[in-house]
Amino acid sequence: MINPSISWFEKFRPQSIEEMVFSNDAQKNIVKSETIPGNVLLSGPAGTGKSTLALIAIRKIVKNQADLCRIKTRSVSDVDEKIAPFVQKKPVSSKCKIVYIEEIDRTSRQFQAQLKEDLMEKYQDSVAFICCTNHPKRIDNALLSRFTFQIEFKSDNIQDIKNRLEFILTQEKAQYDPDELVKFVTKNYKAGLRNLINSLHVSYLSHNGTIDFSALEQNLNIEDNIVGYIVGMIEKIMISTDPNAKKICIATPFNSIIAKEYSSFVTLCHNNYDINYENVFERLYELIRYLPLQVIIGKYSEEIEMKKYPNVHLISCFYEMMKCALEVHL
Ligand SMILES: Nc1ncnc2c1ncn2[C@@H]1O[C@H](COP(=O)(O)OP(=O)(O)OP(=O)(O)O)[C@@H](O)[C@H]1O
Ligand SMILES: [Mg+2]
Repeated sequence: MINPSISWFEKFRPQSIEEMVFSNDAQKNIVKSETIPGNVLLSGPAGTGKSTLALIAIRKIVKNQADLCRIKTRSVSDVDEKIAPFVQKKPVSSKCKIVYIEEIDRTSRQFQAQLKEDLMEKYQDSVAFICCTNHPKRIDNALLSRFTFQIEFKSDNIQDIKNRLEFILTQEKAQYDPDELVKFVTKNYKAGLRNLINSLHVSYLSHNGTIDFSALEQNLNIEDNIVGYIVGMIEKIMISTDPNAKKICIATPFNSIIAKEYSSFVTLCHNNYDINYENVFERLYELIRYLPLQVIIGKYSEEIEMKKYPNVHLISCFYEMMKCALEVHL
C-alpha cells in the first residue's frame, strides 16, 4: 500500500552520519566526539543536510534536554532571556551544552550584535553554538569570526547522492530504470538531496510506484532555468558592442540578440504556477555582482511577497535590468 502522508525526505532523514552524503571530511568531524571544541556554522543551499547533521551532533553531545537551548523565534529578547542565562549554567550531564539556532542570517542586526558580545566566546569551555544558514554572507562579519568551524555544504558528491537515492527507491520498492536515474542525478544533483528525494516521491505517487524520469526533469530545475536565462541575457546585452542591437532588445526582444532566451524565459514564467520567485530573486542577487543591477533586484525582491502576478513582477524587474545594462559600455 502506498502511503502518501509521510514525505520520503522526512522518512529517510539520516539518523547517523553513516547514512549521510558528505562532500568533505570537515562535515564528519564535528560529530566525532561528545564535545565540540568551538562554535560551528553550517552553511549551504536548502535541503543539503545542515539541520540533519546538526541534529545528529546534538543527539550525540546532549545527554539531558536541559543542556540544549534551541532558539526558534529569533526575537531579540531571546538573547537576554534564553541564551544568556543558559550559557551561564553548568551542564547537567553533558560534556558540553549546545545553543542551536537555525537560519541565523534571519535574525536581526541587534540580535547578532548582542550574541557576539561575550556570549559566544566567554563560555566556550562548556557551551558550543551550532548555527545553520543558507546565506553566510548576510551574517555580520564580527559574528562570523566567532565561529571556529565554518562548514560549507555543497550538493556535489554525485556518486553518493545517486547511491542514497537508489537506497530509498529500493526500500520503497519503486520501479525505475537505473540508467535514467544516473542521467537524472548527473543533470540535477545541484538541486540538493531534499529536492531530489521529493521529486522522486511525487513521481512515485502519481505513477503508482513507478518513477517517470521524463516528466520529472522539467519541474526540478525551473528556478535554475529562469535564473540562467536572465543572467545569460543581461550578459549578452552588456558585452554587445553594437548600440543598435542593444536597443532592439528593449523594443522587440523577440527579434533581437536575446530572442531565444527571452522566449524561453517568458514561456517558463507564464506557464508555471509553482515557481519560487523569492528563490529566483535571491539567486539573482547572489549571482549578479554589478551594483546598479543588484539595487534593482533588491527593490523588486522586497515587493514580491505582495504581488498578485509575481511572474509579471519578475519580467518587469528584468526590463528594468535591461535598461540599466544598456547604459553599460564595457
Ligand atoms: N547530505 C545529506 N545526506 C542525506 N540526506 C540528506 C542530505 N541532505 C538532505 N538530505 C535529505 O533531505 C532532508 C532535508 O535535509 P535538511 O533538513 O538537513 O536540509 P537543510 O540543509 O537543513 O535545509 P534548509 O536550508 O532548508 O534548512 C533530510 O531529511 C534528508 O532526507
Ligand atoms: Mg535546515
